[in-house]
Amino acid sequence: MEITYYGHASLGIVINGFHLLVDPFISGNPKASQIDINTLKADYILLTHAHFDHIQDVEALAKRTNAALIANHEIVTYYEQKGFSGHPMNPGGSREFEFGTLKVVPAIHSSSFPDGTYGGNPVGFVLKGASKTVYISGDTALTMDMKLIPMFHQIDLAVFPVGGNFTMDVSEAIIASDFVACNRVLGTHFDTAALIEIDHEAAQNKFREKGKELILLDIGGSLQV
Ligand code: NI
Ligand code: MN
Repeated sequence: MEITYYGHASLGIVINGFHLLVDPFISGNPKASQIDINTLKADYILLTHAHFDHIQDVEALAKRTNAALIANHEIVTYYEQKGFSGHPMNPGGSREFEFGTLKVVPAIHSSSFPDGTYGGNPVGFVLKGASKTVYISGDTALTMDMKLIPMFHQIDLAVFPVGGNFTMDVSEAIIASDFVACNRVLGTHFDTAALIEIDHEAAQNKFREKGKELILLDIGGSLQV
């Protein structure tokens, strides 16, 4: 599995030959100006919640690529009414797709569209490929529910927000990594705006002190799982 960071909480994932995009907010992010959304491949677009900083490029990408959306019931319904197609899921639900298995787990956050439409409950995803499993928490607080995840899944990489203010911060992401029993963390949701700026070196040192790794990719950078 290959994961590319497109800034903020946006990811590209290549898994089993399929291209997934997660929470695409790229054209509206000045820090990601080097990424051209017209060149991104997508078979599926996964959305954790309906906030603008997670969905802004959905319509442009889905229109060009015909990618199917995977999100909660309310978000999929919202886009179906605009003529897009999707597969609704909700927390607790699990499904095998052609790219791998997806389990939807709870997140503690809010979820409304920029036009005020109710965006259902925010979620996270456990994405299982042929040999590796990734947990993408989405925007969330640290929550005890995370402790359930390693009872069912062995997580090889956890993708956590680390910017604080709207989500958990670096210290809490360290605790979250204990909860999901995974010492390799990819940080997201930082530096996009002043409110969520972090000191990279200090953050990575905090993880190192606990014997853990915090990966902060440059925008456009990739890692292998
Ligand atoms: Ni949000
Ligand atoms: Mn957000």
